[in-house]
Order: sequence, then structure tokens, then C-alpha cells
Amino acid sequence: PPARGVVQLQDVEFTYPGADDPVLSDINLTARPGGMTAIVGSTGAGKTTLLSLIPRLFDVTGGRVLLDGLDIREYDPAQLWERIGLIPQKAFLFTGTVASNLRYGNPDATDEELWRALEIAQAKDFVAEMPEGLNAPVAQGGSNVSGGQRQRLAIARALVKQAPVYLFDDSFSALDVATDARLRRALRPISAHATVIVVAQRVSTIVDADQIIVLENGRVVGTGTHDELLAGCATYVEIVQS
Ligand code: GTP
Ligand code: MG
Repeated sequence: PPARGVVQLQDVEFTYPGADDPVLSDINLTARPGGMTAIVGSTGAGKTTLLSLIPRLFDVTGGRVLLDGLDIREYDPAQLWERIGLIPQKAFLFTGTVASNLRYGNPDATDEELWRALEIAQAKDFVAEMPEGLNAPVAQGGSNVSGGQRQRLAIARALVKQAPVYLFDDSFSALDVATDARLRRALRPISAHATVIVVAQRVSTIVDADQIIVLENGRVVGTGTHDELLAGCATYVEIVQS
């Protein structure tokens, strides 16, 4: 069957290897194509850990994660990775060129596809301004681009994969408000058909979400829309007011 991108976490529990206590417990959520799920919670709540379980950077220690109805442990790891565009909280670049960084995950992408991804990721202008364009060198650790540029190139790299599932770990809060707004607008056609899960801090990102999951100490303490949570979830109210 074709990949659709329905992500389900069922009774998920996770304990880091060697640790005593779980950092996630009783996590249940479903994220569907055509919608955006936002995950919010204070630092250390378990947001990054939750995302990391979906492409199997770690395996759950209880419960299960399903992609399109199938336990992710049933997928070939490469096949699973192909279906998930993960934009990590700390974006990283490989030594090479802009193009080689963007093609990581989709070696067959055309230049046109790279430019399209750069455009959506709000990275087209600064790449176009580099004398070598797509072939501009990226130094070790991406040290010749700014943090915000690195973040946007990492977003473009994920978009080049054309995956049915995108996971953005706090990818927007480091950007200035105007770039953030343009980027989220540009992503709308993608979230119209893909499953998008974002860890977010800015209220402007969160209010747009179809579904918001509030995490506290590794547990879900609220699920709903912005208005529903404002009315019924004290942790959420605290987060958006801080
Ligand atoms: P922020 O990104 O700061 O907003 O936090 P977060 O919500 O993403 O939390 P994260 O998932 O990174 O961490 C959840 C808990 O797991 C915290 O108590 C961390 O200290 C712990 N943790 C994170 N990574 C590791 C790890 O690699 N090993 C161990 N043992 N614990 C970890
Ligand atoms: Mg995190």
C-alpha cells in the first residue's frame, strides 16, 4: 500500500538506556496527513525524546509506534527513514556543498527540486547570493553559515525527501518572527497532504495547529485545540502565558 503518513503512538513508554526511570509514559496520540500536530511542554518534558521514537532513533520500551497501521519495527530501517523528514532541534550540516547536504536522503533530486525546497525553507535568497550557488562549499560543522541559515538548510534537506511525515523539533523559534511567519505560510501546501508534527514554543505556531499535545514530565496532560486547552488545561495556559 502507498505511504500515507498516519503516525500513531499507543501506550508508549520510554526509558533511556541505563536510566532508572521512564522519561515518557502512557503516551497516546494519532497524527494524520493534512493536519499539523503541535507538541508543547516545558524544557525536559520529553518533546525531543518523543519525536526521536518515530524514526527509531530509539526504540520504545513499552507500547508501540505505528506508521500507516504497521508497527515501525516491521519496516526496513532505510524504508522507515525514507518516509520521515526529521528536522532536529540542533540542525547539523555535513562537510561538502549546499547541494550535497540537500541531496542527503534523496540523491536523485534535481536542481529544480533543490531550489523549490530552498524557496519553501526561506533559504533561496542567501544560497542564490553565494557565488557558487548550490555548489557553495559547506565547511566542517556548517561553520561558514549562520545558525539560522543552518536551520533553514536542514529544513530544506528534509523537504527534498518529499516524505509523507515531517517532524520539526523546535525549528522555528530560532528564526526571527517575520521569517518564521513566511516559512509557516510556505509550508501550508505541504501540511495539506503530509503529516506534520512540530515541537513549538511560539504561540503563533501553536495556534495554527489542528491538534496540540501538552507534555509535562513525560506525560500527556492535555490534547485539543488552542481554545479547548485554554479553557481546560492549566499547564497549557501557563505555557502560552509565559
Ligand atoms: P527542551 O528541548 O529543552 O525543551 O526539552 P525536551 O522536552 O525536548 O526534553 P528531552 O526529550 O530532551 O528530555 C526529556 C528527559 O530525558 C530529560 O529529563 C532529559 O534530561 C532526559 N534525556 C534526554 N536525552 C537523554 C539521553 O540521551 N540520555 C538520558 N539518560 N536521558 C536523556
Ligand atoms: Mg528538545
